[in-house]
Amino acid sequence: MEFFETVRTRYSYRGKLTDQAVPRDHLRQIVQAGIDAPTGCNAQSVSFVIADEPSIIQEIAKINGDRTNTVCRTAQAVIALVCDKTPVYGHQSFYLEDCAAAAQNIFLALTALGYASVWIEGGILGEGSVQIGKILGVPKEKEVRILMPVGVPEKPGTPNPKKPFEQRAWFNKYGG
Ligand SMILES: Cc1cc2nc3c(=O)[nH]c(=O)nc-3n(C[C@H](O)[C@H](O)[C@H](O)COP(=O)(O)O)c2cc1C
Repeated sequence: MEFFETVRTRYSYRGKLTDQAVPRDHLRQIVQAGIDAPTGCNAQSVSFVIADEPSIIQEIAKINGDRTNTVCRTAQAVIALVCDKTPVYGHQSFYLEDCAAAAQNIFLALTALGYASVWIEGGILGEGSVQIGKILGVPKEKEVRILMPVGVPEKPGTPNPKKPFEQRAWFNKYGG
């Protein structure tokens, strides 16, 4: 898919995913897009656990709330983005920005390959993230910040409308 079409057609999918397999070479390609994202000071603070073992996916799905349970439960794989919060610039860590950049690259990559996903972060903050970390063997000092389920949507959706350019962007001066 052409780049701008991929950006335009990406949308959050929370419905059922089909049982069509997502091959590991696609999962590698998708996660490589996350690895290729920029990171503050090139610290590469984000690492990735790709769960494609059905029993592990089901364990993760149980921890998700109602909103994202279906998409997780039916996913062929769930990608966990794991953050290292170690400061890299004085006392500053850029782990949140690093993780968000990686997540968006992953989202676009899987969209370009014809898959659907949703960025799950709010729904696992706190205890949920700790439990998922335990399932995936993530060291205690690192945080599972975002989950991205992957699969072919049973009922593909449409992008959420965004406000027009003129309401959100201006040349030279805020507000135009
Ligand atoms: C930081 C962040 C956290 C999010 N957390 C969740 C979440 O926990 N559960 C969920 O269903 N969607 C979550 N989303 C997805 C948003 O709800 C979604 O991106 C937004 O409604 C716009 O829809 P769109 O992605 O289709 O453009 C999150 C998105 C972002 C960027």
